Formats: sequence, C-alpha cells, structure tokens
Amino acid sequence: MGWKGILGFEYGIVQAPLGPDIAGPELVAAVANAGALGLLRAPDSESPEYLKELIRKTRSLTDKAFGVGVVLAFPHKENIKAILEEKVAVLQLYWGECSKELVLEAHSSGVKVVPQVGSLEEAKKAIDVGVDAIIVQGREAGGHVIGQEALISLLPQVVDLVGGRDIPVIAAGGIADARGYVAALALGAKGICMGTRFVATQESYAHSTYKRKLIEYDKTEYTDVFGRARWPGAPHRVLQTPFFCDWKSLPAQESETNQPIIGHSTIHRVEKEIRRFAGTCPNPTTTGDIESMVMYAGQGVGLIKEILPAGEVVKRLVEGAQLLIQQMSGESVYI
Ligand SMILES: Cc1cc2nc3c(=O)[nH]c(=O)nc-3n(C[C@H](O)[C@H](O)[C@H](O)COP(=O)(O)O)c2cc1C
Repeated sequence: MGWKGILGFEYGIVQAPLGPDIAGPELVAAVANAGALGLLRAPDSESPEYLKELIRKTRSLTDKAFGVGVVLAFPHKENIKAILEEKVAVLQLYWGECSKELVLEAHSSGVKVVPQVGSLEEAKKAIDVGVDAIIVQGREAGGHVIGQEALISLLPQVVDLVGGRDIPVIAAGGIADARGYVAALALGAKGICMGTRFVATQESYAHSTYKRKLIEYDKTEYTDVFGRARWPGAPHRVLQTPFFCDWKSLPAQESETNQPIIGHSTIHRVEKEIRRFAGTCPNPTTTGDIESMVMYAGQGVGLIKEILPAGEVVKRLVEGAQLLIQQMSGESVYI
C-alpha cells in the first residue's frame, strides 16, 4: 500500500498554531523535522520585524518547510506582509474572512493558504476564493472554537462540498492518537490538525504546570469565561481545573478588566500583567497564580498520558495509523 502526505509535506499531520505564543520555533522545527506541517503563531499585534525573527529562528532549526498562523480578528496586515515576504510554505488563517485578493497575493509569493473553518458556509467561501486546503474544526477542539458542530458530522459534509477539487480537507478537534487519525481519514479527510496533543510536548512553549495538568485532568468544557474583554464573542474549550469549576458560572457582565492581577507573563517579547479570567495561557516566563490561569484543551485530552518530544508524537501517529489500516484491510471487520 502506498502512503502520501498533503501540500507537499511527507505526512497529513498539522500542528495547529497555538496562541498566544505556545507554538514557537522549537516546536515548529521539531514537527517539520518529523515530516509534518508545523505552524508558528503570529502575534496579535502588528510586529512584522519580530515575526520575521521568529521565522528565521525556525529556519535555523530546520531546513524543512513550515507555515505561520494568523488570527484575523486582531491587527494583521503588516504581519501577513512579513509572512509573504519571508515566503514560508503555508499561511494559516482563523477567525475572519479570507479574501480572494489575499489568496492571489499569497500565491504570487508562492505561499499556500489554509483557513480553519467551523461551518459549511465558511467552507464554501473558502473554496470560492481558491484556498489550497481547509481545516475543519469541530466543537471538540481545544482553544477558541469557531464552530458549533461535532467533527463527525461536519467533516464529511465539507468533504462532499469539496467534491473532486484538489483541496485537501484536514480534520481538527479532539484527535490525539492514531485511532482518531484513521477515523478522520475514514470520514474523508486527507489529514489531521492537532492542538492539545502538541501543547503536551517537550518543545511546546507552555508552562510546565499547564503541561502537567493536561496529563492529570481528563475533562474539558466549552465556555466563554476567559478573555471576554479582549476577544468578545469567542467561546473556547478549556480544561476543567479546580479554578475553572469554581468560577464557571461567572456573571455575564464580568470580564478580566475589573479583576485582580494574578501574575505576569512575557508574550512574544512583551511583558503583560495577567488579570484573573484573562485569555492568555501560561508559558515558561509566567509567574504568579498559574493554577488560576486558562488552560485550553480539546476533548481528546483524556487520551494524552505523557509529555513526548513532538517528533515522537508524529512518528507514533504515522506508524499507528499505518498499522491500523493494514490490520483492518487484512482482517474481517465488524459491520
Ligand atoms: C492552546 C491552544 C491554542 C490555540 N490557538 C490557536 C490559534 O492561535 N489559531 C488557530 O487557528 N487555532 C488555535 N487553536 C485551535 C486549533 O487550531 C485546533 O482547532 C484545535 O487545537 C484542535 O483541537 P485539539 O486541541 O483537540 O487538537 C488553539 C488550540 C489550543 C489547544
């Protein structure tokens, strides 16, 4: 049996851009070196020079291709210009409209455009403007969640919508092992995009307490408690930590703006005060009450039992998926 990846990458595995700064050069390079698509996360303010430094640092760690993710809900024009000037392989987009002009501009720089969508309507718009692949996010996903539907029903509908076009559909949400990978392939995806599994790696720029909690806790919840002022109308899926369970019924008029400062963090080189209910998850520079900070996680978190090198995550997914497929094609299968 032959195996092939997507968008010129060896495998159909994508490491999600992990905001605000969890997917840095070390993680992206480790993923790229393992044959998958790693995505840096652009800052949420215009910082083109800094972003170019991130891209160059990643290039110093790998000679393989990689991409950058941009959240369109925040200022981004200068950042996208920098990404296109640097000619990374992929520009990933989220939470905003991807225009035909942008796709054409990216293509003229040799950059492929891959939006993450959460509905059939969004997928249709993406196809119409000529994107190169589509990430379909189910409600199971960790981090901010744009869609309302379960991946198992939304994904095949997007696959049908794409039809015979050469636009690989990539599944995101709740996938953490080879079984989820094969299930996504069975639904018609050509690849998978994982966030939480890659936060729980040695190279991710998440605080060690956040990584440890991903192993310790199994349950998540879809909520709007964190970061209401900074990113309004953006629900998210978080780990059910004791802090979250105590505060999940936070009255609607409350937000992080009138809360006490519970710590400090340097995010993309800028020092920030972290107020209670802020939407920024802790990184290794974060000090203060880490356990009360947001910890994003998808529903697959209960499948994550150890912090691994990111390359090992990719290797186990590929080998596990190939084995499962071979076993299924060699045996009688329950129907
Ligand atoms: C910590 C964290 C940060 C995330 N940040 C972003 C982001 O900046 N941009 C984006 O497109 N998706 C982001 N996502 C969502 C992922 O793209 C993806 O949809 C999700 O991780 C898939 O679900 P999973 O976490 O169960 O693998 C984030 C996810 C997590 C867990």
